[in-house]
Amino acid sequence: VHWSDEERKAITSIWGKVDVESAGHQALVRLLIVYPWTQRYFSSFGNLSSAAAILGNPKVKHHGKTVLTALGDAVKNMDNIKATFSKLSELHSEKLHVDPENFRLLGETLVIVLAGQFGAEFTPAVQAAWQKLLAVSISALSKQYH
Ligand code: HEM
Repeated sequence: VHWSDEERKAITSIWGKVDVESAGHQALVRLLIVYPWTQRYFSSFGNLSSAAAILGNPKVKHHGKTVLTALGDAVKNMDNIKATFSKLSELHSEKLHVDPENFRLLGETLVIVLAGQFGAEFTPAVQAAWQKLLAVSISALSKQYH
């Protein structure tokens, strides 16, 4: 994957201002509410019975931060995303049995959250760079599925 200087700048400048805990939480909350079938993977998380329950669930909050922190590893290793996510790919495939289509859905909810948070700063060019980072990350996370 080739990254232009503009793409690198678009990604790192936004990432430097992202509140990982809040944005990760919001992206996971949106995944679970907008695509409710994704809740099946989180049966150990307790009450997910309504939008309010999902929003107030402490395990959802904690896990949102975990996921977005992991995505930060991709930001820090943009030239080596495949290797960065090799172990996580194996985990989601072989242990968690997460359908990789769900990675794409989480990418979509994260883009919505970033757009809402950054407004005019999240220009089409910035969005394009982020969608590319997400596409490469999702491809890497899907690598160990066979
Ligand atoms: C666990 C990252 C997408 C379901 C995890 C963990 C990380 C992670 C870092 C913790 C691993 C550990 O404990 O060693 C990511 C990233 C994603 C992603 C970077 C996409 C950008 C998803 C999606 C789903 C999912 C879309 C399901 C819809 C799970 C589940 C766990 C998990 C069920 C175990 C949770 C627990 O029991 O604590 N993920 N994940 N992940 N992930 Fe993902």
